[in-house]
Amino acid sequence: MKLCHAMFFIALYSGIAISGNAGGESTDKNGEKYSPKILAETPPMGWSSWNYYGDRINEKIIIDTIDNMVSSGLRDAGYIYVNIDDGWQKYKGSRADHPLVFDEKKFPRGIKYLADYAHAKGMKLGIYSGPGNTTCAGYTGSQGNEKADAKMFASWGVDHLKYDSCCSHQQASQKVLKQVFGDMSQALQASGRPVVFHACHCGWQNIWQWGNSVGANQWRIGQDISDDFNYPGNREGYYFDVLDMIDRGVGLEQYSGKGHWNDYDMLIIGLHGHSKELVGTGASDTEYRTHFSMWSILSSPLLIGASLDNLTKEDLDTLKNKEIIALNQDALGLQAKRYVSNGDLQIFAKPLADGSWAVALLNRSGQTAHMTLNFHQDLDLPWTKVMVRDLWQHKDLGTFGDSYQAEVQSHEAKMLVIRSGW
Ligand code: GLA
Repeated sequence: MKLCHAMFFIALYSGIAISGNAGGESTDKNGEKYSPKILAETPPMGWSSWNYYGDRINEKIIIDTIDNMVSSGLRDAGYIYVNIDDGWQKYKGSRADHPLVFDEKKFPRGIKYLADYAHAKGMKLGIYSGPGNTTCAGYTGSQGNEKADAKMFASWGVDHLKYDSCCSHQQASQKVLKQVFGDMSQALQASGRPVVFHACHCGWQNIWQWGNSVGANQWRIGQDISDDFNYPGNREGYYFDVLDMIDRGVGLEQYSGKGHWNDYDMLIIGLHGHSKELVGTGASDTEYRTHFSMWSILSSPLLIGASLDNLTKEDLDTLKNKEIIALNQDALGLQAKRYVSNGDLQIFAKPLADGSWAVALLNRSGQTAHMTLNFHQDLDLPWTKVMVRDLWQHKDLGTFGDSYQAEVQSHEAKMLVIRSGW
């Protein structure tokens, strides 16, 4: 590629210089220059136990999930993290009164056994804790034991830590939050093991503004998602539906990038209203596809929240759409911006590493709509002719002059890649 071409667009796109966090050069012991690998260089992809299983997890569920990720092709599509969320700990109650140990009734062979199992299958294992005395579900947290806990996670071979402060530190100031997340981030670094660090604070205290500075690789931009595309209002004052979450991320593009991602929360595809932890009655296949398309173009981590046993063929086809996943894992690592907001008809777009652009034509309304993408007026592209490809039809649609028009179903997002057609 025309890298300079891409750089030009990024500069135009972001209005800022490319982040120094994108990987500076270091010198190794032989004096050779190299770029150290950034942790979570692209948004983490995988699975998380909470939204379907809650704390009713055990060794068998994790092993079956790892096996299922392999046999279903999800691992090969990029979903490599299997993240154990809250509920692996033996004790409920304050850390001051209990040690942090795994529950041997649920995990008879321990967490290291599972990490080894995941690694043998080409996958990675995640674990969960929090900076409080207790976690969100009331289990012992890491307060006061950050160094020892980080060392223990590293000795188990853990690759990802979700560190959740939203229940213990709901009212905490930014100063306190920076301290508690910073402490665990440093403890992980001191452990010597590369562990992706998810600073989970439900999108409070503008965590996107300072998450990167305390070493977080991802942070939630909102409270828990609901298994619903568009439920009226912000249900129960806590749960966000898909559209709430998309709205929440508008304007936060500049905070997301290689190694530090705005996290729109776990995917709801495949829950079909059966989550015992989330509210919501499920979404249609079109809505799940739109949700997946938007999370991808917005460069959110892609963590499946459903039981893999319950995925339909349509769910799997959605989750394994390589052309959509490519937008998420693109080497430029940009979060799409909203360029057009015409009521319920909205256009999101971002440049890609090969000089093309990804575009989402999102129809949030209850009716089919005709949507027009004006290449020059909407995106300020310099191309005189534009080639358009549809990523759900897997089809090149031809070459267009000033604009491209499409019929977009209710709650559908038409996903396009456009490039110069000369
Ligand atoms: C919070 C988080 C969830 C989950 C639970 C576990 O609610 O937002 O994603 O981790 O805690 O208790």
